[in-house]
Amino acid sequence: MASEGGERQAQQEKGRRIVFFPCPLQGHINPMLQLATLLHSKGFSITVIHTQFNSPNPSNYPNFSFEPISDGLQEASAKDFMALFVALNIRCEAPFRDCLVRILSENKRDSIVCIISDASFHFTQSVANHLKLPRIVLRTSPASCFVAFAKFPLLQQKGYLPIKDPQSKVPVSELPPLRVKDLPTIETKNSDDFDQLIRLVISQTLASSGLIFNSLDCLEQTILTKIQQEFSIPTFTVAPLHKYSPGSSNSLLTQDSTCIAWLDNQVPGSVIYVSFGSIADMEKQELVETAWGLANSDQPFLWVIRPDSVRGLDWAELPEGFEEKTRGRGCVVKWAPHQEVLAHPSVGGFWTHCGWNSTLESICEGVPMLCWPSFGDQRVNARYVSHVWRVGLELENGLERGEIERAIRRLMVEKEGEEMRERVKVLKENAESSLRKGGSSQESLERLVDYILSF
Ligand code: UDX
Repeated sequence: MASEGGERQAQQEKGRRIVFFPCPLQGHINPMLQLATLLHSKGFSITVIHTQFNSPNPSNYPNFSFEPISDGLQEASAKDFMALFVALNIRCEAPFRDCLVRILSENKRDSIVCIISDASFHFTQSVANHLKLPRIVLRTSPASCFVAFAKFPLLQQKGYLPIKDPQSKVPVSELPPLRVKDLPTIETKNSDDFDQLIRLVISQTLASSGLIFNSLDCLEQTILTKIQQEFSIPTFTVAPLHKYSPGSSNSLLTQDSTCIAWLDNQVPGSVIYVSFGSIADMEKQELVETAWGLANSDQPFLWVIRPDSVRGLDWAELPEGFEEKTRGRGCVVKWAPHQEVLAHPSVGGFWTHCGWNSTLESICEGVPMLCWPSFGDQRVNARYVSHVWRVGLELENGLERGEIERAIRRLMVEKEGEEMRERVKVLKENAESSLRKGGSSQESLERLVDYILSF
């Protein structure tokens, strides 16, 4: 009788192609292509169907096939990304289906075994049904955020939503430990579009053949168990995906590596790294408060200021006197080699918007966080960082220089920060063990491979 491993190999040799469809935003492209790289290493052929907007660079993936489809967007921007999601779900449906039909007719030997789609592309479920292909969903945010979105209709019924006071600290008893201000809402011109998008994303995820979270059992055990009890959908937790292949291969902006040489000259554990991801933005006055908070904290800092990150400006000038006050202990870049920075021994803290990739990347390098969430899952993540895992503290009252200065000191030099550093090191070790043989993410990945081969 053939061994289990032998059977799997025999099945793989038949030729199995997985079609990936990433959502064209940095925080979504990274985990999707990391998952594709991982499954390629398990013997699958990979096709990436992608929009023209923010298209990945095929030359970084010589072993994958890339299929651009028309997204019909004359001018697209990630600024109002809810509007972008709505438009993409309408405009990509026909080109996506046509592209799949063509691939199916061309690749008789190497047939498509399943589609792995970003959760936000809900229309891919009806396309998959139509073509009788299994669809698996990748969620690039944590399980806690999925559960919060799934409860939106109930939260609306109970009057929590729409949020009347964005600063409300009233606990949401249906979703502990979240408070009203931690609910993953997103400001958009058309709130009905947002509600409908969330409803469709959740229903079409639950209609899919499987759900992959870039998350870890050790971070979200309770909530993952609830998902398994409440929804009858096979679930896989395979984080941290960035440990399988670096995010630098997918970077939409050029990473400025000069900051690494600057970090080399700093005292170990002394630098606070400041970066608010690829979409979050701020008012000009908030930039000024951030600058003076950093300057007055007396800590060395590495600050990423994305060119479009201050509302209404292409590039924001830093306040007069800032450079003089921080000379020799500050480095400002437009985009950084994020993972390399977080892994650098000089970095002792990370002031983040709590995008899920940034949060995971920080945990995996054992770096405690100062949280300033902007929208969506970032609010949920910040609450978990500060109150569940207790590896960071949240700036609760907006950006004000005195509060920033105080928070940086608490994180970087006080006992409270030291305790967070100890706790995040334990999480880092747990994340590392989850990837080893017998670890939870490793086992989940094996289950995922077997599941895909069973289609
Ligand atoms: C978005 C959402 O905002 C986030 O909440 C969601 O979980 C994923 O999609 P984004 O805001 O860009 O993502 O944040 P994040 O999830 O942290 O992803 C940013 C990615 O860009 C990270 O993988 C990070 O490594 C990379 N990055 C960031 C850089 O390469 N250089 C930088 O200077 C900053």
